[in-house]
Amino acid sequence: MTCAEGKWSRFAANMTICFALVFLFMGSMPAHAKPGILSKEDKACLECHAKKGVSKPKAGGDAVSLYVADKPYSESVHNDNGCTDCHTELDVKKHAKADNKKLGTREYSIAAVAVCRDCHKKNVKLYEDSLHAALVRGGNSEAPICSDCHDPHTTRVNSATGPMDDVICQNCHGKIFKAYASSVHGQARNKQTGKLPADQQKAPICADCHRSHEIKAAATEGRIKNACLDCHKGTLILHKVWLPNAERHFEAVSCPACHVATAKRRVDLRLYDSVTNKAVTEKQGVPQFESRTQAADAKGLGLDALALQSLLKEFNREGAEGQTVLRGRLEVTSGVEAHQLVARSKAVKDCDTCHREGADVFQTVTISIARPDGRPLHHGAQKEVLTSPISVDSVRGFYAIGGTRIKLLDYLFVMALFAGIAIPVGHMTLKWLFRRYLKNLEAERSSTQDDTAQH
Ligand code: HEC
Ligand code: HEC
Ligand code: HEC
Ligand code: HEC
Ligand code: HEC
Ligand code: HEC
Ligand code: HEC
Ligand code: HEC
Ligand code: HEC
Repeated sequence: MTCAEGKWSRFAANMTICFALVFLFMGSMPAHAKPGILSKEDKACLECHAKKGVSKPKAGGDAVSLYVADKPYSESVHNDNGCTDCHTELDVKKHAKADNKKLGTREYSIAAVAVCRDCHKKNVKLYEDSLHAALVRGGNSEAPICSDCHDPHTTRVNSATGPMDDVICQNCHGKIFKAYASSVHGQARNKQTGKLPADQQKAPICADCHRSHEIKAAATEGRIKNACLDCHKGTLILHKVWLPNAERHFEAVSCPACHVATAKRRVDLRLYDSVTNKAVTEKQGVPQFESRTQAADAKGLGLDALALQSLLKEFNREGAEGQTVLRGRLEVTSGVEAHQLVARSKAVKDCDTCHREGADVFQTVTISIARPDGRPLHHGAQKEVLTSPISVDSVRGFYAIGGTRIKLLDYLFVMALFAGIAIPVGHMTLKWLFRRYLKNLEAERSSTQDDTAQH
């Protein structure tokens, strides 16, 4: 501070300025009341608004509540703010008769939460990058804005992290909440009350795996898995004890696929850019995936190996040649199942569950692309795409030993593993082996197509 600088005369002058500044600063702050006690201004507002049942009738709809309970407000984190700190646009004197037509609409709420930015810049920014916010901007009236998760008139400290049964996410994701509540984590969370010993980790609730403001599509690669591994440090090493190449398993098998024993599983083949190492995303406003998959699968039986191959070709036509590939992942088939994690003793450990010819886990196959907001868009494929020699090139990197009917492939895989040479070598050999076979098949298919065209 400059106040203490200089000689006596300057000191006096500076002091005057300092006092002036302090008074100015105090003047700019609203006349705040002590927590639990409301200012005169706020009490005046509540004369009308804290009357039970106060509402505004709406033609042809439910009445709009105008009720703001005084006690919860006076005990909320915002009690120190005056009503008009947030309701800045309000014409205090005239508003009661203004007949605001927007009141009670989504448009009103969205406009009202814009004020949160004044004091919570960080959270607003995080939220604006989220999937929820993208959905709101896209006109989805079910997706949450600030006030859906935090009632501006009643929010208390840590109310968003209170007891499990109060978690706000369940208002809209009820089925997932139920699944979560009976999982290992939900049960543990229910038991863990009060402060935990320093060496104990609190079992996660929604926001620990998905975050609270910066929520992204759940399938966003690596995001949730990293959350699991952040808490379960050293778990990879524990898996390595019994699971060969546990790293590869962690990549190709989602955690719930083994840890939700009863779930129905499927193989999802994601369109993937091998150059940028990211999932291929549909361009905003130019959807291609649905039209292409539907055209390639006119009968709706699921894409077959040849259709899959030509689909890939189409995706590769726009950009650099050979960029788009498929990446296989074994996962559970629904969002509800993803939350039914069970104790370790019930997890899938038996190699045969997956590494067996005709294993259940390989009977359902989908192809997917990421929508602009990151959520996957699926189309069914025939299970044979995993075993057909035609797909060797398309579905590369996803051949669970024994799970396929391509014995030669299994043989090469085991050889490659033994020799410690990289899988690409195996695939290159295969590519060479099958090139002829593929050409024949393609020729065969196009000639049958020509035949049908002639009829
Ligand atoms: C005399 C009773 C009365 C008092 C006092 C009063 N209000 Fe209202 N208020 C109303 C009525 C009636 C409506 C519905 C107006 C309408 O139909 O648009 C309303 C609506 C509102 C709305 C929603 C409509 C909008 O335009 O945003 C807000 C916010 C609001 N009041 C805040 C306040 C605040 C803040 C105060 C104190 C500064 C206050 N009110 C004092 C009666 C009152
Ligand atoms: C922290 C900011 C904040 C404070 C402080 C605040 N409000 Fe609000 N208020 C809002 C927001 C945001 C909405 C819109 C909520 C929605 O529709 O989702 C709202 C809505 C309202 C409404 C419309 C009806 C409703 O409940 O949606 C009334 C009436 C109202 N407030 C009155 C008051 C009064 C009276 C006070 C002071 C006692 C007050 N508000 C203090 C942010 C605030
Ligand atoms: C989908 C629900 C959800 C939405 C939408 C949401 N929040 Fe939150 N918020 C939470 C949860 C859960 C917590 C507590 C966990 C945490 O700290 O991350 C929280 C914590 C907070 C906190 C206190 C902790 C901190 O980080 O400072 C503030 C302030 C906050 N939110 C403001 C906002 C604002 C402003 C918006 C709108 C831009 C918003 N929130 C939107 C769920 C939500
Ligand atoms: C005029 C400033 C101001 C505005 C506007 C404002 N807040 Fe706050 N908010 C505060 C203050 C001050 C606190 C309490 C101090 C703290 O602990 O950060 C707080 C705390 C919070 C918390 C923290 C609860 C916790 O767990 O600690 C949440 C959640 C929150 N506000 C949500 C909102 C939302 C949603 C809006 C918009 C409707 C909003 N705030 C608008 C000033 C404001
Ligand atoms: C232990 C971590 C964890 C917790 C806790 C958790 N989730 Fe999830 N969530 C996941 C995983 C894993 C997925 C599946 C991701 C994928 O597709 O790979 C998922 C998927 C989702 C999806 C997408 C579902 C779909 O249909 O694809 C939603 C919505 C969701 N979770 C909401 C929640 C809510 C709400 C809670 C709290 C009740 C919650 N999650 C708790 C890990 C968690
Ligand atoms: C007001 C309703 C609402 C609330 C509250 C809410 N969500 Fe959502 N959420 C939605 C909607 C709508 C979608 C988009 C449809 C869908 O995927 O279920 C969505 C999507 C999601 C997704 C992405 C799903 C996917 O397909 O990948 C996740 C993850 C998610 N929410 C987590 C949460 C968490 C965690 C909370 C609590 C902190 C929460 N949500 C609170 C309405 C809500
Ligand atoms: C191939 C199936 C499989 C996959 C994939 C898998 N697990 Fe496991 N996991 C198991 C089995 C089986 C056990 C029990 C091992 C035992 O008790 O001997 C286990 C044990 C655990 C345990 C308890 C022991 C420990 O390590 O702390 C945790 C935590 C765990 N897994 C987390 C994960 C996470 C996180 C992922 C995803 C990144 C994952 N698992 C992927 C099968 C799997
Ligand atoms: C916030 C930290 C946290 C996150 C994130 C987390 N867990 Fe856990 N997890 C725990 C705690 C704590 C327990 C111990 C519960 C108990 O006391 O039994 C646990 C238990 C488990 C168990 C049971 C272990 C056993 O011994 O039976 C499995 C399996 C598991 N978690 C898997 C996962 C998976 C998979 C994910 C990600 C989808 C995940 N966890 C995310 C903290 C976490
Ligand atoms: C839940 C299904 C599942 C279970 C259980 C499972 N695996 Fe796998 N495993 C896979 C999948 C899927 C792949 C394919 C990964 C790929 O494409 O590279 C794989 C790949 C492999 C590979 C090749 C790894 C590499 O380097 O590419 C070996 C070896 C293997 N598994 C051995 C085992 C053994 C041994 C067990 C039992 C202890 C086991 N797996 C349990 C699904 C499973």
